[in-house]
Amino acid sequence: MAARRMSSLLSSRNVSSLASAFSRSSGKGSSYSRGIISRFSTAASAAYEEPITPPVRVSHTQLLINGQFVDAASGKTFPTLDPRTAEVIAHVAEAESEDVDRAVSAARKAFDEGPWPKMTAYERSRIMLRVADLVEKNTDELAALETWDNGKTYEQAIGEVEVLARLFRYYAGWADKIHGLTVPADGPYHVQTLHEPIGVAGQIIPWNFPLLMFAWKVGPALACGNSVVLKTAEQTPLSALYVGNLFLEAGLPPGVLNVISGFGHTAGAALCSHMDVDKLAFTGSTATGKTVLSLAAASNLKPVTLELGGKSPFIVCEDADVDKAVEMAHFALFFNQGQCCCAGSRTFVHERVYDEFLEKAKACALERVVGDPFKKGVEQGPQIDNEQFAKIMKYIKSGVESGATLEAGGERFGSKGFYIQPTVFSGVQDNMLIAQDEIFGPVQSILKYKDLNEVIKRANSTSFGLAAGVFTQNIDVANTLTRALKAGTIYVNCFDVFDAAIPFGGYKQSGQGREKGIYSLNNYLQVKAVVTPLKNPAWL
Ligand code: NAI
Ligand code: MG
Repeated sequence: MAARRMSSLLSSRNVSSLASAFSRSSGKGSSYSRGIISRFSTAASAAYEEPITPPVRVSHTQLLINGQFVDAASGKTFPTLDPRTAEVIAHVAEAESEDVDRAVSAARKAFDEGPWPKMTAYERSRIMLRVADLVEKNTDELAALETWDNGKTYEQAIGEVEVLARLFRYYAGWADKIHGLTVPADGPYHVQTLHEPIGVAGQIIPWNFPLLMFAWKVGPALACGNSVVLKTAEQTPLSALYVGNLFLEAGLPPGVLNVISGFGHTAGAALCSHMDVDKLAFTGSTATGKTVLSLAAASNLKPVTLELGGKSPFIVCEDADVDKAVEMAHFALFFNQGQCCCAGSRTFVHERVYDEFLEKAKACALERVVGDPFKKGVEQGPQIDNEQFAKIMKYIKSGVESGATLEAGGERFGSKGFYIQPTVFSGVQDNMLIAQDEIFGPVQSILKYKDLNEVIKRANSTSFGLAAGVFTQNIDVANTLTRALKAGTIYVNCFDVFDAAIPFGGYKQSGQGREKGIYSLNNYLQVKAVVTPLKNPAWL
């Protein structure tokens, strides 16, 4: 039964890019005319069903060090869970500082002595292109592994695997286009800049988009000729190990890419403090980002790229097409179970359209289909783990206690795993915790505003600055907002467009540096100026 359901799901695959997967998962249909829906209608449909058996076998659970899958030095393992049921999927090797040492020396050797830096850029590019082909060839299996370990919908996971291939091709394309300049100096000198790889890059990724975070970091590091030690998030170790193996299949020399699973305070901290790591890139919480930066400073001052938390405003202007605004604001918040660093988690709505917006936003949340992420048509799966589940439930309680109006959801969905009902609060005030903290879950906070200057001030009055959404048909209003909002990405009448070429990163405490696009290459390059005297030059 489960197998039959799964094969029909596989054959229904027609997602051509993550952007289209995103817009489809946001598609709620245009009819809001269902009248008043019971606040608990989602709970009523939560009768427990046996979880669908994932059509994939776990193939890699060891550490990828120096081109081989090996056990942790201590022999320790830790369980990774299926968030649908909280049952163990597999036990994976638990790296600690000794394993970090092993991985860093393999990366060092590959960088200093190995074939990688001695290959031409074109040869390196071709290996990355082969990885992209292998990713594509294994789309179904990789997506199933991701859904199983993470809980995101299978349809979305398919879209993410396709974006993974796109990202590797994008960076393969850069590999042989990275070069320095000839610089005109004021004197008889030939001056050139060499854009050199930095060396060993340490990379730490979170669990919300394991595949995309892998590619955002590994892609530019390898394109620029570095070697890598990447630590996966302890909640989602499986997909990165699988992709690590594809790099071996594609002919990547041993030691160039090492993938280790382990916990933050042990393996993660050891990587940050390591004296032989030349550069760090981190995505995760602002609090851990600060730790990462201080460990880097206290060890060898390695440069750090940080992509951290957010509390992004989504501003619905008075002229907005309300149906479309509702749909986009819903998508901006609920996408990926609300587990997005750039989630539009403060929905500011102009008072003139507020009542209509609220009624439709509530209907949209109540219609959202929650359930087994392997099941076709399901829009929302479980949260990643019990810790996140408890954190979100705590914020929902705080919203109620601080006087916001609970319009939809607010409770656990079903009886097993980490599912939460799509939740909407109205009447949210700026000083409430739910309007200030990153909730990282399916909880929409709707705030009312009167005029543009007021909303700009309120939108900017946070320590974060990752993204912002603007919904208006007025070009002048759009231009005013896009320049006034302090955030690394401003989406106008769209949201969560994550193409490889678009830079991403934060203002203020949402981070340092930019990933993706041409801007990401600077993170992985040193600039060396080479100055040579000119004897009797024909020209200066
Ligand atoms: P976290 O920031 O602690 O974990 C992210 C990564 O950092 C994981 O790989 C973890 O092992 C590693 N890490 C943890 N402590 C470390 C340390 N001392 N040294 C080096 N690496 C370390 O985030 P966590 O605990 O998974 O989630 C907590 C909150 O962080 C979430 O509720 C959410 O608000 C936010 N978050 C933001 C993300 C983003 O995309 N910006 C992604 C994940 C979480
Ligand atoms: Mg897991």
